[in-house]
Amino acid sequence: MTQNAVGVEFAQRLTENPTTAERRAAILEDPGFGNYFTDHTAVIDWSIDAEGRGGWHQARIEPYGPIAMDPAAAVLHYGQEIFEGLKAYRHADGSVWTFRAEANAHRFNRSAQRLALPELPPELFVESLRQLVSVDRDWVPSGDGEALYLRPFMIATEAFLGVRPAREVSYRVIASPAGNYFGGALKPVSIWLSEHYARAGHGGTGEAKCGGNYAASLAAQLEAEANGCKQVLFLDPYNDNAVEELGGMNIFFVFTDGRVVTPALNGNILRGVTRDSVLQLASDRGLSVEERKITIDEWRASVADGTLAEVFACGTAAVITPIGELKTAEGSLVSPAAGPDSVAMSIREQLLGIQTGAVEDLHGWLTRLA
Ligand code: COI
Repeated sequence: MTQNAVGVEFAQRLTENPTTAERRAAILEDPGFGNYFTDHTAVIDWSIDAEGRGGWHQARIEPYGPIAMDPAAAVLHYGQEIFEGLKAYRHADGSVWTFRAEANAHRFNRSAQRLALPELPPELFVESLRQLVSVDRDWVPSGDGEALYLRPFMIATEAFLGVRPAREVSYRVIASPAGNYFGGALKPVSIWLSEHYARAGHGGTGEAKCGGNYAASLAAQLEAEANGCKQVLFLDPYNDNAVEELGGMNIFFVFTDGRVVTPALNGNILRGVTRDSVLQLASDRGLSVEERKITIDEWRASVADGTLAEVFACGTAAVITPIGELKTAEGSLVSPAAGPDSVAMSIREQLLGIQTGAVEDLHGWLTRLA
């Protein structure tokens, strides 16, 4: 058992077959994104009885491996599931830190409310990351733009086919060494405009980080790939074709007069932690930032009159990735190449610098994990 700041004891059962140092070094050479997983997982169970008595229990670290689940578990039928994504970064002195974990913990609880799952105390969320990273700290890469991607998630495990919120739930964290989300070296990506599918509907789960939103993006993602694109862009067809977000990341526009614009949060759009950090860092630089409606017509018009300077995607996994081209069934909109002085690339540099300890953390965004 390991005691900790939040007073919850995590039982520790370590793997009998840890990955060898040679194998781990080979993986960390070129981890890609989401391909490899560390040796352990953090788990906390939750259950209540029919009168609502119960709560979180059995916090533990155990070997990474398959989850035994009843075939009637609610998550397998009704998709009662949420997740988060954040990263652990290795600093020059070997210590390991995470970025704005409290923001992820709060967003996790907002998602939990929407999916009728139990909320997890934010301190316990952060402590679960600390417990996992402490045992798997050798997996945190130190290469440029690399980090250990942490994936907390919560699933409804109760075996019951009636449609109601499950009374048994499991919270887990897995970790995966990560390089560039799009593979290889960073370069501008092409995105495909989805005109047949929407990602979210008003009053739906668009703002929640739940698996269903990502499942709903996949048919459009296939269309994107068939058109040679890496990601798909979703619009809101009931709101003048306002730009919403990409399949797995938020979107930003930079105009030649220095304005930095991103679609306003409207219940459909994910409250990206990177999105929020970009807004903060851009405004720290004196740039004018606008969270507002931006339509596909405005995008087209600003390319036509030369007032659009940059478009970029952002998210924990993607960090900041310039968008080179928007392909549509009617033709494509090309953005200028993003040089090192572009807003996208210089904020990316600053953000990675803060995360890896090379640039001062003026906003108190870092938390030490190990
Ligand atoms: C993230 O950026 O953390 C995401 O969740 C995006 C994607 C990998 C699902």
